Amino acid sequence: MAVGEYKPGLEGIPATQSNISFIDGQQGLLEYRGIRIEELCRYSNFLETAYLLIFGELPTAKQFAAFVEDVNYRRRIKYRIRDMIKCFPESGQPMDALQSCIAALGMFYPLADLHDASFIYDATARLIAKMPTLVATFHLMRQGNDPVAPRDDLSYAANFLYMLNEKEPDPLAAHVFDVCLTLHAEHTVNASTFCALVTASTLTDPYTVLTSAIGTLSGPLHGGANEEVMRMLAEIGTIENVVPYLERKIKNKEKIMGFGHRIYKVKDPRANILQELAIKLFDRFGHDPYFDLAIELENQAAKYLAEKGIFPNVDFYSGLVYRKLGIPTDLFTPIFAIARTAGWLAHWKEQLADNRLFRPIQVYTGRHGVRYKPIGER
Ligand SMILES: CC(C)(COP(=O)(O)OP(=O)(O)OC[C@H]1O[C@@H](n2cnc3c(N)ncnc32)[C@H](O)[C@@H]1OP(=O)(O)O)[C@@H](O)C(=O)NCCC(=O)NCCS
Repeated sequence: MAVGEYKPGLEGIPATQSNISFIDGQQGLLEYRGIRIEELCRYSNFLETAYLLIFGELPTAKQFAAFVEDVNYRRRIKYRIRDMIKCFPESGQPMDALQSCIAALGMFYPLADLHDASFIYDATARLIAKMPTLVATFHLMRQGNDPVAPRDDLSYAANFLYMLNEKEPDPLAAHVFDVCLTLHAEHTVNASTFCALVTASTLTDPYTVLTSAIGTLSGPLHGGANEEVMRMLAEIGTIENVVPYLERKIKNKEKIMGFGHRIYKVKDPRANILQELAIKLFDRFGHDPYFDLAIELENQAAKYLAEKGIFPNVDFYSGLVYRKLGIPTDLFTPIFAIARTAGWLAHWKEQLADNRLFRPIQVYTGRHGVRYKPIGER
């Protein structure tokens, strides 16, 4: 077999065949199973979208009711997992805590038959159900508080905000959060999904698949970018500082966080939806001066970056929305992981249906025939 051209970061190289989601980076189009993200955000909800992604079709009313019940039923976590979280350092990174919890969870639900549809269904419902409980439990326990038990009468999004803040959220806040989860649920073969595919291809269990994906999502070039956006806005501080900040960054060839995307060469459609959601939240709960900085930064950055196809991505406005919902900055990426669990599991299931172990080749750039030198001669 001829060795193809090496592309750093596998840019432009197809790594899999998939019918889960589609991006047109020139048009700013994102579809899940053929349905535009704008439509899903308007008419669907996170659990229904998760079902669509994982099982391929929108559920019937009966299937959806059963799925919601199956997820709700599994929201609680075992006391041993809670005790484990109690031992984590309170300064620990929430993504590390989440990754450890999901790895540990796998010990309670050992791998059965990967071709058994009921094993796949149970693992799927369980992982979707427990992710928010784990994130909220770690957050409360690191503050020295008891965790708040999930409430079956609340929607998926409302229940998470309830567990986090120990009070029932305003319906608008719950709706906005649900749309955020829908928006982040899937995005073709990005770094964490690719990592999930590679791990899945070894035929390991779904908890290990998710553990790998969570680790990959935690980096600042992937899921961590919205946290970096909030730090950047804090550093800019005032409208007058926007242009000097931008000029300094561009001159030093440094990245503006929340801008740019390997696939989108126009503004990320999810950024438009989030921008609208942010405005709705501010109308209801009060303005955030960081939003003015973000708008000014977007306008000014266009003068420097638009010609290179660099525009705001999903992370640019999501942090502002989460901040208004009272979510601490270091939980932004774990929330991304909660949502993306749907996409990771959809790809896990798709990989299993037609599995081949990932084993790419490398372009060797090292030496040959080097003689071993005894330690005393080095
Ligand atoms: C997402 C990202 C990693 C994709 O980048 P990529 O396809 O690997 O593109 P590169 O890093 O090779 O950058 C290509 C060019 O665009 C520039 N560029 C890319 N993103 C930029 C940004 N956010 N700010 C300023 N310049 C940027 C690079 O400096 C480079 O310019 P050059 O060709 O003059 O050297 C990159 O845009 C980035 O780091 N963005 C900031 C982090 C972020 O928001 N991540 C969330 C992604 S959803």
